Amino acid sequence: MTIRTILTAALLAVPQLASAQEGFEELRDQCIACHGETGQSETEETPSLGGLDDYYALISLVGFREGRRPSDIMADITADMSNNDLRAAAAWIQGLPDPEPPEAPGDPAIMERGAALARDHHCVQCHGAELRGGHQMPSIRNQREDYLLKALRDYKAERRLGDRAAMVEVVQELGEAELADLAHYVAHLPAE
Ligand code: HEC
Ligand code: HEC
Repeated sequence: MTIRTILTAALLAVPQLASAQEGFEELRDQCIACHGETGQSETEETPSLGGLDDYYALISLVGFREGRRPSDIMADITADMSNNDLRAAAAWIQGLPDPEPPEAPGDPAIMERGAALARDHHCVQCHGAELRGGHQMPSIRNQREDYLLKALRDYKAERRLGDRAAMVEVVQELGEAELADLAHYVAHLPAE
């Protein structure tokens, strides 16, 4: 267990005050403006939040606020949020439905290459059989393609390290074209 995991567990363990959700309600309109009301983002390079586990959401939010995960936008948003606000935000995220696949199906040749890369690089071993994550693992299925590619590039450039740097290791063997194939594939997986 890393210190971050322990701190996050401690944060989640504190019972939520009824007022925490109330305080967060005003902020929620801002979150929705960028991330979408139903957790499906229509904003460039901005992740859909639907499908993310509250634990992963909280790790991310604390990371933004403490400057461990880089994002000027999210650092500003979380700067004045209390621990209760962050917990309320994570609880809201947990209740959002999974994002829908894009209307247009994926390019068949890229989907084939992406599936092979995902198999060879064991994405399902950590992100789960359907890539829906859970606990500290983010759901990536039907996440926005542009955001997936940005996230993979951030790990590759070691701008974003993540807990235990697992992803930095995963992407080291992958080139730019392979990252793009993976992002297209994961974004376009069909609904089951
Ligand atoms: C001005 C637009 C904007 C607003 C407002 C905003 N976000 Fe974000 N959010 C972003 C962007 C852009 C990222 C991606 C950061 C990155 O590249 O890592 C992000 C990332 C996140 C993530 C990480 C998701 C993941 O898949 O790792 C969470 C959780 C999140 N935001 C929650 C919130 C919450 C809760 C609020 C409201 C309190 C909020 N955001 C408000 C733009 C915004
Ligand atoms: C050894 C475990 C492991 C493997 C294998 C793995 N991942 Fe991850 N992945 C993680 C962890 C842990 C995180 C969260 C890291 C963080 O907090 O930034 C993550 C985060 C991500 C993110 C960022 C999601 C977001 O919402 O910001 C993407 C995209 C991603 N992984 C894609 C992949 C793909 C594609 C593969 C296969 C090529 C893969 N991962 C294989 C553990 C893994």
